[in-house]
Amino acid sequence: MTNQKGSPRSGILNSFQAIILAAGKSSRFNTNLSKLSFTLCGKEMIVYPIELLNSINIPITLVLGHQKEIILNILNKNSLNIPWIEQKEQLGTGHALGSTAQNWTAENILVMNGDMPLINQEIINNLIEVHIASNASVTFITAHNSDPSITGYGRVIKDNTLTEIVESKDFKGDPSTNCCINAGIYLFKRKFLENNLTKLKTNSSGEIYITDLIKLASQNKEKVETISAQFDYVRGINTLKELWVAEQIKRSEIINAWMNNGVHFLSPQSVHIDCDVAIGQNSFIGAGVQLFKGTRIGKNCKVDAFSLISNSTIHNSVVINPHSIISDSEVLDNAQIGPFAHIKNQSIIMHDAKIGNFIEITKTVVGQNSKAKHFGYLGNSKIGAQVNIGAGTVICNYNGIEKNETIIKDNAFIGANSSLIAPLIVEQNAMIAAGSVINQDVPKDSLAISRPPQVIKKNYAVKLKEKYKERKDICENNFKHKIKTNTLSEVA
Ligand code: UD1
Ligand code: CA
Repeated sequence: MTNQKGSPRSGILNSFQAIILAAGKSSRFNTNLSKLSFTLCGKEMIVYPIELLNSINIPITLVLGHQKEIILNILNKNSLNIPWIEQKEQLGTGHALGSTAQNWTAENILVMNGDMPLINQEIINNLIEVHIASNASVTFITAHNSDPSITGYGRVIKDNTLTEIVESKDFKGDPSTNCCINAGIYLFKRKFLENNLTKLKTNSSGEIYITDLIKLASQNKEKVETISAQFDYVRGINTLKELWVAEQIKRSEIINAWMNNGVHFLSPQSVHIDCDVAIGQNSFIGAGVQLFKGTRIGKNCKVDAFSLISNSTIHNSVVINPHSIISDSEVLDNAQIGPFAHIKNQSIIMHDAKIGNFIEITKTVVGQNSKAKHFGYLGNSKIGAQVNIGAGTVICNYNGIEKNETIIKDNAFIGANSSLIAPLIVEQNAMIAAGSVINQDVPKDSLAISRPPQVIKKNYAVKLKEKYKERKDICENNFKHKIKTNTLSEVA
């Protein structure tokens, strides 16, 4: 039944199509937003089942309703062009499926809840195989959940004659002994659906449940088959707490995969890594590091404690010291960053450059081997190779209306505590004296100095100290006198 990769043969898959139910109101999320728009490890919940079914080439139809614009926006952003049907009123999962009836063309219809992002290919392939092999009218996925504090799942009740799903709120039995739950993924023969879906009745909650099809099939002596999956893979997400739990599982999966690829984590339980992140072999990830979507870390890098990196490329052998934040930027081989550096907005830090503590760098290229090792601000600038940026250098790139560019060419030396007022060019080998305020271009090989001239008053320090001491004594005497008078007047 399976090809070399372990997935059902593509010929067989031609007889399948999928419906993803994604129209629900998400009321238990209590956020006023469709739960399917929330992310797990950087990926929106609705994207998970779509990517999964795309990866096994099953054509999808989405059922959208509540906040459909938000879901469509997400699909657009992720370049997912999926046909969809509107369920105008959210009258339950059975009703949602019914709204797609005019789209059923394949022999077998796979229906899945949109809120189960941890499901994987292997389980879906297994479902398809068992469904075909058993020739069942419906095959669905169950799981074992013996934790009675986890509610909200339909219980699968089987005896010799009948299989049915009893929804959690209608279930009167003991949940710790009736541990078999309905996962929310079903494979139906289209003929079975065509003959039976309209027979479903609206229940006391005013909804039509897809799950009632199981009892119907069973009562009609249609073949009902189940496969069992590990509970963690089929967790549904109805509440923010369940989102948190599922995200922890996803995060562990991701970290585990990177560990297997030779990434060393000091404290993996404190690290967050999104799905769309890559980390090279022998890199080290410290405690509390967060690596967000679009981040690539090369080989032999060190990303130390509490650093946050998003949508950035870090090449090989880079050291990022603790508490650094890097977004939408690139750091080339052997560069050193931080601690407490902030690099953003398409900045590029070239090979072997050193960016130290408390530096903010935005829309700036820092050239090869250049250094800016102590606090400062570098904005809208192009800094050449071998440049030294002294402590406290500020590039004044904003005049209140527009941002202007500063160019500092190779081998320039910017003395500490300088203010460089853009637009400005500091040519090759130029030097700027510490404490300067520079607002004119500095020619090649020149020194620019722009600060008040220093004045020396010989021996004046001694006099000044005496003067200050005298002033202090007078103050203290006055104070004592005041206290004394106040105390006497109080006694009187
Ligand atoms: C459902 C199952 C339950 C199962 C659980 C697994 C039913 C009646 N119950 O319950 O047996 O254990 O999933 O997680 O199906 N939706 C629509 N239109 C609607 C209502 C819902 O499209 O009118 C969509 C939702 O967006 C969601 C999916 O259907 O993606 C499931 O709905 P949800 O309300 O989460 O069902 P559960 O109560 O979890
Ligand atoms: Ca659910």
